[in-house]
Amino acid sequence: MRRLQTMIALLSAMALGLTVALVLLVREPGMETGKPAPAPSSGTVSGSVPKDGEDKTVHTDASTPEQKDPETQSPLQEGLQNSGATGSIERRMPLLVNADNPIPEDFKPDVTEIAGSEYQFDRSAVGKLNQMIAQAYTDGVILYPISAYRSTESQTRNFNRKLEENKAAGYSDEEAYAMTAQYIAVPGTSEHSLGLAVDLNSLEESFEQTAQFKWLIEHCAEYGFILRYPKDKEDITGISYEPWHYRYVGEDHAAKIMEQGLCLEEYVQQAQ
Ligand code: DAL
Ligand code: ZN
Repeated sequence: MRRLQTMIALLSAMALGLTVALVLLVREPGMETGKPAPAPSSGTVSGSVPKDGEDKTVHTDASTPEQKDPETQSPLQEGLQNSGATGSIERRMPLLVNADNPIPEDFKPDVTEIAGSEYQFDRSAVGKLNQMIAQAYTDGVILYPISAYRSTESQTRNFNRKLEENKAAGYSDEEAYAMTAQYIAVPGTSEHSLGLAVDLNSLEESFEQTAQFKWLIEHCAEYGFILRYPKDKEDITGISYEPWHYRYVGEDHAAKIMEQGLCLEEYVQQAQ
């Protein structure tokens, strides 16, 4: 069964790679369209009780696409229309979202499907993600999203499920909450709810030992992405090391952040 699942995942990834490669082959110059990235604001953060997060071991819901584009088109059409980010998002300071900085109340995600995938990503940045996956494929590296945009409701379900698991394992409510929040951002504070974060390939720390991870560290900034939760920055980010989680910030910011080995909290702080 596990072998079958692995084979299906690999076949899906290959199909995705081929689709994106096709998109890039037929793409014409000047197709970079896209609306400006959504203005920062914040989602409906629920009250005092912890509600959500990302389950490190249960992947299904974390990847459930939400808010389908009403004008649903084929991945190829999507790719053609979203083959490059507008650049607008690159010119402003990336929106910092973490436990101390919830998503602004008036934030409205604007997402569309990633080429060849059910998962959704910010409309103005999805082209860069498509390009990154396509170039990796050309380089013999298969990347595939296992989660991207998640509504706050979806994040809440993930968080609560992990919270209950931790309680069932014998931890006190407080301990279980703290443990859960290390991996799954409290609902209303997840970058996934911005539509600007993608989880690739695996939710296991061993992902850092793969050729895919090596490729990502070398090339993600070229497409405007950063490794958002580095290993040595856990005290600052408040989130455990996540070699699979990449955040779109635009190429200029990404280059500086990755070159200097910063986390987003440090970069934003530096700029103030
Ligand atoms: N796993 C990251 C922190 C999230 O849930 O947004
Ligand atoms: Zn993630």
